[in-house]
Amino acid sequence: MKVLVTGGAGFIGSHVADGLLAAGHQVVILDNLYTGKQRNLPAGATFYEADLRDQPRLAEIFAAEQPDAIAHQAALANVRDSMTDPATYAQVNVVGTLHLLELARTHGVKKIVFASTGGATYGEGYSEDNSKLPFAEESKAQPKDNYGANKLSCEYHLDLYKQNYGLEYVALRYPNVYGPRQDAKGEAGVIAIFAGAMLRGLPTKITGDGTQIRDFCYVGDIARANRLALESDASGIINVGTGVPTDINWVHSVLSAVTGYNQAPAYIPRPAGEVLATYLDSSKAKTVLGWEAEISLEEGLESTVAWLRGMDE
Ligand SMILES: NC(=O)c1ccc[n+]([C@@H]2O[C@H](COP(=O)([O-])OP(=O)(O)OC[C@H]3O[C@@H](n4cnc5c(N)ncnc54)[C@H](O)[C@@H]3O)[C@@H](O)[C@H]2O)c1
Repeated sequence: MKVLVTGGAGFIGSHVADGLLAAGHQVVILDNLYTGKQRNLPAGATFYEADLRDQPRLAEIFAAEQPDAIAHQAALANVRDSMTDPATYAQVNVVGTLHLLELARTHGVKKIVFASTGGATYGEGYSEDNSKLPFAEESKAQPKDNYGANKLSCEYHLDLYKQNYGLEYVALRYPNVYGPRQDAKGEAGVIAIFAGAMLRGLPTKITGDGTQIRDFCYVGDIARANRLALESDASGIINVGTGVPTDINWVHSVLSAVTGYNQAPAYIPRPAGEVLATYLDSSKAKTVLGWEAEISLEEGLESTVAWLRGMDE
């Protein structure tokens, strides 16, 4: 099938595009290169430099390409920036998604897979009550920032396009995704930040006492979930995490071993609102997509560090 991958010059989107091309699909990438990079664009994909807010330009691309499906990865994805510039976040993340949904509807697109978020959607409502963990799809959505609220709004819009127009969708709720091509400035770039500093022998900082729990999933596993969601009849919201609760101190120690780093981290005060614990129950993904995370954190960190070393050469 022909798949329009928005954000395909970015970290996750470029891996989604790679995975689709490797499976024999045609790939068209739409990205405004805000955080995306030309060097991430896979050979074999058609590229349009375009902004999700530019509806007439998107209409031209749909008319020219007539995609069968969309993997919608493009977004502004910095939680803190979403609090200082909420209107721009809504314009890109919500209005941009509505532009795609309207064009999908009018051009006969069969399915859209949306990059949603487990971390920001489930929020920190239960961080004092870990008995609610891991979060499953039916856990209460309680975003605490505009970025999470944007993603949840998009899930509602996707669902009403399915109800009203029969446009199929899957909203994949990602955990903390990491791997090659991740920018240290990203939403959840703690691994990229640590690894980059360690390889340069620079100091590292951990907020709080480092016992915060996250669910770290390798980007190749996330790309495979996108492909399976596009190729299958699955529908609705699906968590795609490892289900392995991992604390930040442990990530620091494994990365230290992989990079040969021997400095202790500096512990700095925990920012207000930082989520204490989040990880995802992904049993639905196993049932409906036949998906589960395959790459262990140790393997994923090895390949991330190998990629970073290659970038420095
Ligand atoms: N990285 C994570 O851990 C994580 C976790 C949960 C959800 N997500 C979601 O996954 C998706 C991909 O995230 P990523 O980590 O690869 O980030 P990224 O910044 O590398 O990718 C986002 C891409 O969107 C493009 N983009 C931004 N604004 C645009 C616009 N107005 N028009 C067109 N393109 C635009 C950027 O240039 C970039 O290539 C995002 O939707 C993000 O919200 C990521």
